Amino acid sequence: MSVRPHRPRRLRSHAAIRGLVREHRLHPEQLILPLFVVEGSGVREPIDTLPGVERLSIDQVFEVIETACSLGVRSFALFPKIEADQKTTDGAAAVNQSGLACRAMRAIRDAYPDVSLVGDVALDPYSSDGHDGIVRDGRVLNDETVEILAKQALLLAQAGADIVAPSDMMDGRIGAIRAELESAGQAETVIMSYAAKYASSFYGPFRDALDSAPIRREGVPLDKRSYQMDPANGQEAVHEASLDIEEGADIVMVKPGLPYLDVVHRLADTLPVPVAAYHVSGEYAMLRSAAALGCVDYEQALQESLICLVRAGARIVLTYGALDYARLYQKEHGHA
Ligand code: PBG
Repeated sequence: MSVRPHRPRRLRSHAAIRGLVREHRLHPEQLILPLFVVEGSGVREPIDTLPGVERLSIDQVFEVIETACSLGVRSFALFPKIEADQKTTDGAAAVNQSGLACRAMRAIRDAYPDVSLVGDVALDPYSSDGHDGIVRDGRVLNDETVEILAKQALLLAQAGADIVAPSDMMDGRIGAIRAELESAGQAETVIMSYAAKYASSFYGPFRDALDSAPIRREGVPLDKRSYQMDPANGQEAVHEASLDIEEGADIVMVKPGLPYLDVVHRLADTLPVPVAAYHVSGEYAMLRSAAALGCVDYEQALQESLICLVRAGARIVLTYGALDYARLYQKEHGHA
């Protein structure tokens, strides 16, 4: 037998040893579960392209939050599905205090004072054009959009959001939102900016869930490339995130997740704030579809995907698989 001073396999010989030397762990409380909210009560609508995820009326959201809390997941991001007849080209319903987003936020806040709630700031659920900003003459307007986003963020904060999360990628919106929050006395509201959000094909199922894809009409851009980032760019993500931090962001997000691990790593290495990664709808749907075909084991592939995001540097992960992950965690660790 040869003498080998180095045998890395020594540290892999059984589960307890592997547990001792494991470099990264992901606790369920680092997860944020995105929830699609609809009007009505007792409503649970499946989403064809997002197997295992449903649109929920507010009472059903309560049930999911109960389950989540019992599993150690206590952060939720709300996305309202707005009826088509309430959508306009200026997305005005985004600043309706009694609209679905603010109503759901208030109801959940009142019922669950201890959970953390994320309010999404962008116009796409409210835009008849399917864009995150106001469209005019074939362009998505920046500064006019920022004004309405700042108001939307304030309303969500006043309705009970601990965290507002601008997912729109307009320039300067973090500064405008921070100023609006400060001047209205909402100094403690956290801003989690979608700082490096790429123009990705992996958002398809999300747009199905909200019926929010850009529409095919003369004068409406068909894609979001004039505001979301080019997938070919990495350094630009550092610039985007640095600007957001300067303007007052507390957490910066990279989105999508797995195809952009290098970006997660870069931001986590260079910036002084927590980095979040969004394991987006298309990534989640790929796991489900591959599992349905017998190509991968869903649970193992989910665990691997999420820990890879953490290894790259994410401290927070948004995923539709949060409850599945937490169930596995509970099974393996015997507690939440
Ligand atoms: C839009 C928004 C999108 C997602 C979150 N916010 C889609 C888009 O930019 O078109 C995608 C999330 C997912 O795919 O899970 N403000």
